[in-house]
Amino acid sequence: MTEKKRVFSGIQPTGNIHIGNYIGAGRNYVRLQEEYETIYCVVDLHAMTVPYDPKDLREGKAIMARMLLAMGIDPERSLLYHQSDVPQHAELSWILGTLAGMGQLERMTQYKEKSDKAGQQFGLFAYPVLMAADILIHRAHAVPVGDDQTQHLELTRDLAERFNHRFGDLFPVPEAIIPEVGARVTSLTDPTSKMSKSDPSPKSRVHLTDTPDEIASKIRSAVTDAGSEVVYDREAKPGISNLLEIFSAFDGRSIEELAAEYRDAGYGIFKNAVAEAVIDGLRPVQEAYASLTDEEVHRVMETSAEKAREMAAGTMRLVREAVGLT
Ligand code: AMP
Ligand code: TRP
Repeated sequence: MTEKKRVFSGIQPTGNIHIGNYIGAGRNYVRLQEEYETIYCVVDLHAMTVPYDPKDLREGKAIMARMLLAMGIDPERSLLYHQSDVPQHAELSWILGTLAGMGQLERMTQYKEKSDKAGQQFGLFAYPVLMAADILIHRAHAVPVGDDQTQHLELTRDLAERFNHRFGDLFPVPEAIIPEVGARVTSLTDPTSKMSKSDPSPKSRVHLTDTPDEIASKIRSAVTDAGSEVVYDREAKPGISNLLEIFSAFDGRSIEELAAEYRDAGYGIFKNAVAEAVIDGLRPVQEAYASLTDEEVHRVMETSAEKAREMAAGTMRLVREAVGLT
């Protein structure tokens, strides 16, 4: 039997998870369980890199863990744990930091955007190095993420190569797994910018926990484009194109098929159909979310963390040996 390749991904327990996170990342986490050994992580240490309230962090962690299980992460097949429960992430991050160039970190788009808002701070600057450590501590081969993480993945690959070159081959150089449709779901109120947890307007995104009425109302009021035809054209029709991508992600039919069917239906009818697909698609996730108990969630997180610590300790033994600490 050939060994399965390993997938790792992380998601921050900040704010409320939205359909951009789900389409760009979450549902791929679930799909990849079929083919890969899968390890998923609620990255609580990353969530501390912008100003936050400890109470919100505690709640956010519990909510995110529960939501990931509700989406279909199966504890029989995947590990799912909180990053800070496995101290080797931070330990490896220190070592990788000694290989990371300041210039490359300064060029990170997310660092520039977030430091403009939250102020310059070392943790925020070092964020991508910790992300590289998350991936490399498990010697993962592939990383499902949305397209905003490409630059961070590139850094991870550079650090893996640099480490291997300097200290001997230890890390696979990981590939990003970016979905063809939905890698960058855009805001419902401004279809040229990314749908984001931190957008001040709740109308800009659909949360996975929104009620059917809320979903319908947000999608009906989504900003659309001039004209009346439903066509896929990201440049000329960003609003309609975004809705088509969302529609296709939840409905399963291709964008071409949906565009052909709704071409002359008018925006109103089209939006109602999109809303219905999202409501139907989220229903099973919402039902699972409601039926999970805190005990079940807690048990999964603890059991997985235990296994992840053992695996991570194995990698750290090799790393310590390679770099000359032991
Ligand atoms: P974050 O909300 O930054 O913790 O992101 C969690 C995951 O969702 C990452 O893999 C992101 O790349 C992905 N993601 C975030 N926003 C979007 C979006 N608007 N469209 C597609 N994927 C996204
Ligand atoms: N930076 C990622 C985001 O904002 C979250 C993350 C942290 C991550 N560590 C990771 C994603 C490791 C993939 C792999 O979405």
